[in-house]
Amino acid sequence: MQSFETLKSPNISFISVSQMLGLIRSYGAEHLIAGIADYLEQDYKRWLDFDKSPRFAAHSPEGVIELMPIGNHEKFSFKYVNGHPKNTQIGLQTVTAFGVLSDVESGYPLMLSEMTILTALRTAATSAMMAKYLAPKNAKTMAMIGCGAQSEFQVTAFNKLLGISEIRLFDIDSNAMSKCAKNLANKNINIVMCDSAAEVVKGADIITTCTADKKNATILTSDMVPAGVHINAIGGDCPGKTELSKSLLERADIFVEFEPQTRIEGDIQQLPAQSMVTEMYRVIRGECSGRTSDAQLTIFDGVGFAIEDYSALRYFYDLVSKNGQCQAIELLASPQDPRNLFGLIDTPSAASGTKAGSDITEKENIASASVELS
Ligand SMILES: NC(=O)c1ccc[n+]([C@@H]2O[C@H](COP(=O)([O-])OP(=O)(O)OC[C@H]3O[C@@H](n4cnc5c(N)ncnc54)[C@H](O)[C@@H]3O)[C@@H](O)[C@H]2O)c1
Repeated sequence: MQSFETLKSPNISFISVSQMLGLIRSYGAEHLIAGIADYLEQDYKRWLDFDKSPRFAAHSPEGVIELMPIGNHEKFSFKYVNGHPKNTQIGLQTVTAFGVLSDVESGYPLMLSEMTILTALRTAATSAMMAKYLAPKNAKTMAMIGCGAQSEFQVTAFNKLLGISEIRLFDIDSNAMSKCAKNLANKNINIVMCDSAAEVVKGADIITTCTADKKNATILTSDMVPAGVHINAIGGDCPGKTELSKSLLERADIFVEFEPQTRIEGDIQQLPAQSMVTEMYRVIRGECSGRTSDAQLTIFDGVGFAIEDYSALRYFYDLVSKNGQCQAIELLASPQDPRNLFGLIDTPSAASGTKAGSDITEKENIASASVELS
């Protein structure tokens, strides 16, 4: 449990978009991705301690809104996230998100964070962390299919954690490809732009598919992929939204996050419910093998699971608790007498009945300021 006095404060930590960007500029995306990957590995190792369920998904014709809760005996987290592939046509993002981390013993929230950027960091950290167990040894070249919002984060993670030094890019939208190449210039990564999915996979040790289209798409067919490759398939993450052909899935050893959720949302929705897949926590805990031979074709059918948000929030909570690089927002009513909530109405000084509450408006207005939490 957090200290009693900290919990009595009406304020909780808040990481705004400006502060998230400030943290990335201070520490570097590579450093933060590596830090999240480390926390992810720790949390996957204690997988059995967590209460897990498939996420709640509200589908509409153009997209999905999801809530992703998870908890263990220490902390609880949830993320609100959407997925609307057509949004980019009207200048909106496909994915936006925010999340909360809480103290389990008191049930009090500790931190509210933007998670649009944090989701990109954590998804990249997850992909690369899983690939450490699944990709061919000494992989140097990755094909990146889909050059949207997630793509540069993916490349950064594979460069940092696996030493990928050549990236082959393909997107059906050449502007997205140019944007990605421009953002990755000066990163000491050799970039090759390609005209088709068939061309981009040539010579790749790892293939990442990260496209957005709300349909059963076939980005990769079996004939395009030689033995020995690792596929990091993360764009197929909803019922009726896939990227890989069924025959490609049937040829490969498939690894997933949380099987009950991936059966609904992953590319394996195309396979019979009893088809063989391995949950990654078993590989990470050493109970099952990941890659076992040079010729093995491996697929990480990643849909994004709540434990990854938990790890990412936990990492950032620890980081900002040490360096104070976040805001405080007055989220909690905090009456002197915990049973006298009604009495706050007649306390003219502040909504919370404490001095800290009256300072908060000024704090909230300083979006990029670093403030110590009271
Ligand atoms: N698994 C996870 O944890 C996770 C996390 C975040 C996002 N996602 C998913 O990843 C995907 C990408 O997210 P984003 O935020 O980068 O989306 P985005 O809309 O910013 O980018 C998607 C890109 O895919 C391209 N594309 C679409 N169809 C294609 C095709 N057939 N071939 C090549 N390129 C194609 C688009 O032109 C676009 O540039 C989405 O489907 C999203 O739902 C998964």
